Amino acid sequence: MKMPKSIETKHYEERAAFYEGLKRLDRRSFMRLAGLSAGIVAAKGLVTPHSFQLVEVAGAAPASKPKFTFAYISDTHLYKKELNDRFVRSILRAVDDVNRLDPQPDFVLFGGDLAQLGKREELDLGAQILKGLKAPVKMMVGEHDWFLDMGEYWQKLFGPPQYSFDHKGVHFVTLMSVQEKDFWTANGYTPEERMQIVAGLDDGRQSRFEVGPQGREWLKNDLAKVDKKTPLVVFSHSPLYKYFRNWNFWTDDADEVQALLRPFANVTVIHGHTHQLLTNRIGNIHFHGMLSTAWPWPYAPEGLPTLTVQQNRADPFSAFDGCGDGRMDLLENGLVDKLYNLWDRDPVTVRATYTASNGKEDRPAPTRLPSY
Ligand SMILES: [Fe+2]
Ligand SMILES: [Fe+2]
Repeated sequence: MKMPKSIETKHYEERAAFYEGLKRLDRRSFMRLAGLSAGIVAAKGLVTPHSFQLVEVAGAAPASKPKFTFAYISDTHLYKKELNDRFVRSILRAVDDVNRLDPQPDFVLFGGDLAQLGKREELDLGAQILKGLKAPVKMMVGEHDWFLDMGEYWQKLFGPPQYSFDHKGVHFVTLMSVQEKDFWTANGYTPEERMQIVAGLDDGRQSRFEVGPQGREWLKNDLAKVDKKTPLVVFSHSPLYKYFRNWNFWTDDADEVQALLRPFANVTVIHGHTHQLLTNRIGNIHFHGMLSTAWPWPYAPEGLPTLTVQQNRADPFSAFDGCGDGRMDLLENGLVDKLYNLWDRDPVTVRATYTASNGKEDRPAPTRLPSY
């Protein structure tokens, strides 16, 4: 079977074709081509970093009551309290949001990157704050939690980074998707240097994120016990597709992992790491990115999955802007309506019917907020 091309690969192919076309043109034709190209980009729903589109917000209430809900908090990136209190205030705000949900969610998914540099005091601080949640917490690991001591302390606090559980007829899997091939031993990097290199996402000295052969073997065995009609929800820190390699918005073995998920009728992947509204669908797999409580990352310059409901550049004068938390409503068919609770803005709901129809149905209505 032919593998789908990554967004990044398509971008480079289009760009190469564009430059190839340019060679044969005089200046007037070039201007026409440039205009035409912008039109194509707009028609495809892709945007350049200078032309953000309207973001869409939640419209009517859900047509049918969800089977159950769970909330999420992700990418808190805590430093020691003395170094940075802003991110501490942000995670506290998220905990308060979730505790005020009525009814309470069945559980809360923490999406990874609890700490900034994997330090014990950062992880301890996060663990202590998350204890304030009323609902039970499911933990996922991020690269910022892992690469100082290769997950030793995180695992002591929270247990194995890869596990599965069944809840009300849905099979849930939490993956450790930020493994990297050993780039440190041969280069003699200290644990602190290793952590800093991975924390700098565009630092080319590191390897790329992957679930890795052992993780994939574990996943294969875990899924072998599950009926193919059972709804499947997978949590991963990095997106389980190839979005943008240079920033490690990427899972190197995404194609192999997707192949393991493909036999299932309804699959949803919920990921952290990208700190932005992000929606994608590849075959039967729906992908949703989670918001960060700490900061929003810009969208990758090479283009976006076309289903993405885009958020605007955050207001630099508001520490909370572009950040938030959210909720997943599990529907009868096992797919999710994904609610982005953007702080101080209208929430955005991306419905399963929207992703399943490739954007033809239930497109979220444009917001009236002028900055979007
Ligand atoms: Fe993060
Ligand atoms: Fe991350």
